[in-house]
Amino acid sequence: MISQFVYGHPVETYAVVEDVPVLGHEQLRHFTRKKGSPQAFSCPLREEDIVYGLGETMRGINKRGYRYISFNYDDPIHRDDMPSMYGAHNFLVVDGAEPFGAFFDTPAKVVFDVDSKGDGVLTVFCESQDLRLYLVEGKTAYDTARQFLGIIGRSFLPPLWAFGYGQSRWGYKTERDVSRVADKHREAGIPLDYICMDIDYMDRYIDFTVNERRFPDLAGYAARMKERGLRLVPIVDAGIKIEPGNPVYDEGVQKGYFCLNHEGTCYRAEVWPGMTHFPDFLREEVRQWFGDQYKFYTDRGLEGFWNDMNEPAIFSSEYRTQGTEPDLDHGDPDQPERHTADFKDFFHRLDDGREKSNYEVHNLFGGMMTRASGQGLDRLLDKRYLLFSRSSYIGAHRFGGIWTGDNASTWEMLRQNVYHMPSLNMCGFLYSGADTGGFGGNATRELLLRWLAFSAFTPLMRNHTCIHTRHQECYRFRNPEDFKTIVSLRYRLLPYLYSEFMKAALRQDMFIRPLAFDFPEDRKARDIEDQLMVGESVMIAPIVEQGAKGRIVYLPEPMTEVRYSREGFSCTEADAGERTVMVPLNQAVFYIRRGKLIPVGGAASCTAELDLSDVELLGSGDACEQYIDDGFTKDCSLDRCVVHRKKAEA
Ligand code: GLC
Repeated sequence: MISQFVYGHPVETYAVVEDVPVLGHEQLRHFTRKKGSPQAFSCPLREEDIVYGLGETMRGINKRGYRYISFNYDDPIHRDDMPSMYGAHNFLVVDGAEPFGAFFDTPAKVVFDVDSKGDGVLTVFCESQDLRLYLVEGKTAYDTARQFLGIIGRSFLPPLWAFGYGQSRWGYKTERDVSRVADKHREAGIPLDYICMDIDYMDRYIDFTVNERRFPDLAGYAARMKERGLRLVPIVDAGIKIEPGNPVYDEGVQKGYFCLNHEGTCYRAEVWPGMTHFPDFLREEVRQWFGDQYKFYTDRGLEGFWNDMNEPAIFSSEYRTQGTEPDLDHGDPDQPERHTADFKDFFHRLDDGREKSNYEVHNLFGGMMTRASGQGLDRLLDKRYLLFSRSSYIGAHRFGGIWTGDNASTWEMLRQNVYHMPSLNMCGFLYSGADTGGFGGNATRELLLRWLAFSAFTPLMRNHTCIHTRHQECYRFRNPEDFKTIVSLRYRLLPYLYSEFMKAALRQDMFIRPLAFDFPEDRKARDIEDQLMVGESVMIAPIVEQGAKGRIVYLPEPMTEVRYSREGFSCTEADAGERTVMVPLNQAVFYIRRGKLIPVGGAASCTAELDLSDVELLGSGDACEQYIDDGFTKDCSLDRCVVHRKKAEA
């Protein structure tokens, strides 16, 4: 059961796409509302209640015990006490006596105090008086999340190649750099489907350009790479460089497509290309125009993109002095180290005729860039595209995925990646992942191997790192054979993973879930945060500790334990309960639920070589359903599922 409560005159966010009945304010359940600025919604929590959700926020899967702020911000230091990240995902589920979910649909700042004082109170402070509150009442936490996914529309469906392994590094500058990455992977037999092109491919970091000295024939190069089963995935930043003569800039100014400052001229902010203007993504006409610009790339045969700097990130602005040093006058009492006042300095003209400062509608900016790009790519291409963004708001999940930004090469960040995945899934972002191996800092061989063994199960599996860090491509480390084994596991699992992702997306369900969602009656499963369900049949128990030779795994029911090594898969039946599992760095272990079967395929160096229908079946069940398509079609439906049955043993 879902109901909607409308306060004030909310801004259109496009988050919810289904009709939800509007109830009178007096019918609000679970929360008590206190008017004021901010307005506050409070509800009591019992000792044993769990609070799930909030997508891209720090800390565990159970959000209890801390305060989180939805205010999209570019901060590369992902400390445990960081209140907000790049996305605003204002949906949470309270798993108590009567499970319910709440979505605070407002693009302004929201503070979620999830029992931070330990006094059993959840309070949500909404800075804006204008908002829609959606209340979802379910039988279980999982049912509640599923009902929510039902009203926000189907997840973005990437092509099959986007489920391959991707390699990235800020610092690949030329065609030669990129080719070397391709060659080295192929030589070492490490599968690879795409290579990301960071800002250095552009002409002076200007969107929709290419540095022709570095990539003299991008179209020809992209075609040659595609023949090798490899795709190029360029970055696109939010700001358009101020440069008269550049057609995108000129048209944007002439047609009034950029955000304005107090004086009514285009707002100026410094990002990678120097001074830029920000497209007013909140307007339909501007989104159309921006989306059409991707023709520059699709004309050159490119089908995948990552959108960045779209919180938006601002290094300095026309009203703030240079640099990113803390400037308390320009700060925010909640996050004093942040220049949130920049966002009060520029304005959007909404389609409903209102003018709003970016600060008032801040959290929509990145999500609307994704909407613009996704809709543009959908017009430009007759097949599915890859798109993932740094900033996001619920609703953008229908047009692209996200990555979780500038993490670091630490074990803590690997753990955070594990916690993020189910929380993001609850908020619609099925296609997501982190910078595998870590962005900042230097990855060790051990960390990268363990991280890959986890990322093998996340839809976006991309190794990315920052300029000036240690090279982090798999072939740079001792014994690349071990990396080949772990990345190959991903490819051998793709018949299952791709199928389960597509089924989950088409059913508007979660792909990755907390253990407790599948075992709601199991008290122990409720407390476990480092084991996840992936698709209908698989449970994973990633290793996230340095030096660990194995770990303790809890099985809520008897399962098939599958070990993957260079020799392939080996299965043993495991009893319910706790067990200690040893997992060498060049192996991976996962579990198949009782009575389930999963399809796995043969090894491949890229998805183009995969035959999704040529599978072997693992597990104790009798049958399974596999979704199969050509990997590109836009005509996706559950009718494409085929049934496999286990042959009776001779
Ligand atoms: C931002 C992105 C990062 C990228 C860098 C350079 O920090 O989050 O992924 O490598 O910008 O474009």
